[in-house]
Amino acid sequence: MVVDRMKIMSIIGTRPEIIKMAPIIAEINQRGINQVVLHTGQHYDKEMSDNFFRDLEIPAPDYNIHVGSGSHGKQTGNMMEGIEEIMLKENPDIVLVQGDTNAVLAGALVAAKLHIAVGHVEAGLRSFDLTMPEEINRKVADICSAMYFIPTEESAINLLAEGFSRKNLIITGNTVVDACFRHLKIAEKRGFGENSLKDLNIENMENILTLTMHRAENVDVKSRVKNIVDALKELEEMNIIFPIHPRTKNTLENFGLFDELNNLEHVHIIKPIGYLDFLLLTSKSTLILTDSGGLQEEAITLNVPALTLRYNTERPETVTAGGNILVGSDKKAILDNSRKILNDDGFADKMKNAPNPYGQGDAAKNTVDAIEKYYGEGLLNITAPEDIMGSFARKMKNISEDISVNDFEDIENALIHMVFDGEKMVFPSDELNLNGMMIIYDKRE
Ligand code: UD1
Ligand code: UDP
Repeated sequence: MVVDRMKIMSIIGTRPEIIKMAPIIAEINQRGINQVVLHTGQHYDKEMSDNFFRDLEIPAPDYNIHVGSGSHGKQTGNMMEGIEEIMLKENPDIVLVQGDTNAVLAGALVAAKLHIAVGHVEAGLRSFDLTMPEEINRKVADICSAMYFIPTEESAINLLAEGFSRKNLIITGNTVVDACFRHLKIAEKRGFGENSLKDLNIENMENILTLTMHRAENVDVKSRVKNIVDALKELEEMNIIFPIHPRTKNTLENFGLFDELNNLEHVHIIKPIGYLDFLLLTSKSTLILTDSGGLQEEAITLNVPALTLRYNTERPETVTAGGNILVGSDKKAILDNSRKILNDDGFADKMKNAPNPYGQGDAAKNTVDAIEKYYGEGLLNITAPEDIMGSFARKMKNISEDISVNDFEDIENALIHMVFDGEKMVFPSDELNLNGMMIIYDKRE
C-alpha cells in the first residue's frame, strides 16, 4: 500500500502542541503510517510536558533535543540546529508543525530549506498584532508550508487575503475538539486525580472561576498584571482556581505580587495540572478567565463562558459566536463581565450556548486523510518548476448564473482566489454556488 512507505515527522515543543497534536499522532499510528515524533524540549517540567503524554495516551517522543528556555534567538537557533540533524537522518515525506510557538518557526524553516513539505496544523490564524512572537511564528510557518490544515473558514480567508492558493487550504476543524471530547469522557469516568484539587474539595465547590495566564504581553508587563490582580482581589464571590504557568510564577514573584494574590482566601494558586484534571475543572467552572489560545477554543467547546485577558484575538470566531468576550487587562471590564456571568442567567446562558466554530471532533481524521491523498498524488514532492511559466490574467467578475466554484474553474481553466458576497468575503469551497457573488480569479491562457 502506498501509505506504508510514507513517513511523517511531527514536531512538538510545548504543552498546547502536545495536546493538539495528540489526536493526529494517534490517528497516524492507528493507520500504521511511519511516524517520528520530535520534541524540542521547550517545555520540560513534568507538569508542562511528560504528564500530557500520560494523560493523552500517546507514546513518548522518539527524539527530545532538550533546548530548554532562553531568548527567542537562542532558543529558535538551537532548535533549528537540532531539528536539522534529525530531519536529515529521518528524511520524512512531510513535517507537521502545530500552532505558533518557536518550535513551529524552527521546524517549518528547517524543513522548507531542506525541500521537505511542511503541513501547518492550525494554519491561517491572525491576531494582526506583530508585537506577539506567536504572530510572527505563524506567518513565517504559513509561508514555508505546502499543506494548510485550517480550523475555520475565517482563518482560510486570512490566507486567501494574503495571496495563498486555495488549492492547498484544507478546512479540518481544530484538533482541540477531538482531544476535548475524547478525554473529557475518560476524565469523567476517572474523577479528579490531582491532590491539589482534591484538597480543595473541588468536587463540591461552586462559583468556580478558572484562571490561566502566561502571554508575554500580559505577564511581563507590571501595570497589566497589577490591574488583573486588583480585579481578582475584588472578586470575592468567586472561587478562583489558578494553575499557574511557570513563566507567570516567575514574573508575579519578581513584581512582588505573588504573595499578595496567594494570601487571598478566595484565590487558590496551584501548579499546572494534567489534561484530564484540567478538563474536569474547566467543564465544572462558571467562567474561564484566560489569555490562552487553546482555552478560548476549549471554553466554547465545553460550553463555558470565557473572558479573554487580551485586546485582540486570533480566535475571533469565538467572540462572534458569542462565547468569548475580550476584556484586556481592564479591571472594570473583568469585574463587570465576571459578575454578569455569575448573576445574570440569561447572559451566561447565551454565552454557554454559543455554537462551536471548531468542528465536530474529526479534525485529526480530516488532516491525515488529506495527507494520504496528497502523498498518493505526489503532491508532497517539493521540486523546482521545470515548465516555463505560463501567463496569467487576473480578472474580476460578477456571476449571475447558478455555477459552482469547481464547474467555473473547469470551464474557464481558472483558479478562483476570492469570492465576495456583497461586502463579505466567503471561502470558495468546491461546491459553493457563485450566483450573485463577485469573484477574483486567475485565468490561465
Ligand atoms: C510558549 C509559547 C507560547 C505558548 C506557550 C504555551 C513561544 C514563543 N511561546 O510560551 O506561544 O502559548 O508556550 O504554554 O514559543 N518554564 C519553566 N518550565 C518549563 C517551561 C518554561 O520553568 O517547562 C519557564 C522558564 O522560566 C521560561 C518561561 O517559563 O523562561 C517561559 O517559557 P517559554 O517556553 O519561553 O515560553 P512560554 O511563555 O511557555
Ligand atoms: N492546560 C492544562 N493544564 C493547565 C493549564 C492548561 O492541561 O494547568 C491545557 C488546556 O486545557 C489547553 C492548553 O493547556 O488545552 C493550553 O495551553 P497554554 O495556555 O499553555 O497555551 P496556548 O494555548 O495559549 O498556546
